[in-house]
Amino acid sequence: PLRVAVLASGRGSNLAALIAARLQVDFVLVGSDKAKAGALALAAAAGIPTLHLNPRDYADRASFDRALFGRVAEAQPDLLVLAGYMRIIDGTVIAPWEGRAINIHPSLLPKYRGLHTHRQCLAAGDAEHGASVHFVTAELDGGPVVAQARIPVGADDTEETLAARLLTREHALLPAVVRAIASGRLAWQGGPVFDGTPLTAPLDLT
Ligand code: GAR
Repeated sequence: PLRVAVLASGRGSNLAALIAARLQVDFVLVGSDKAKAGALALAAAAGIPTLHLNPRDYADRASFDRALFGRVAEAQPDLLVLAGYMRIIDGTVIAPWEGRAINIHPSLLPKYRGLHTHRQCLAAGDAEHGASVHFVTAELDGGPVVAQARIPVGADDTEETLAARLLTREHALLPAVVRAIASGRLAWQGGPVFDGTPLTAPLDLT
């Protein structure tokens, strides 16, 4: 089975969705930059090896990232999933993971990279919001998008209602992408391919 490592900084509901999806994968590590991340507790309860490294113990971003990604590499994952991992990753450290790492981001990329995506969507008056899964490159939230889920934005929506409604779609989207990779339908050959064909538009796997 595909060996999957996960990095998460927060509550870990996307990790919970991955575990609950009963994918044909082996979770080899869940790592976090936050000791209190819900994701670490979830992983421990599921019998998955966990790792916490504190950025404050390192001189700078690059040395933290070298340490963290060194430990991730030791777990020998085929795929690294960023599931609510909230730190920018040093470009030199992430570069060797190109094609082997995916990230879920709560916007319809290329719209709204970075933080406060729900706020940005509301401020722009968009009729639609969504979440994207993309392959990770050195560019923050900038790698090729492989799948998206979309929700309509209502007149009464707030950041909180949008985030909550989108999260339930994320919980279907991320496992669907990992399932597609585990089954060999979605792969990386210098760029994303689906069933052997270059991916030109994001899939809606939800
Ligand atoms: C999710 O909404 C995810 O898309 C987002 O953080 C949340 C994590 O929730 N990720 C980012 O904003 C990445 N820049 P979770 O901890 O419950 O999975």
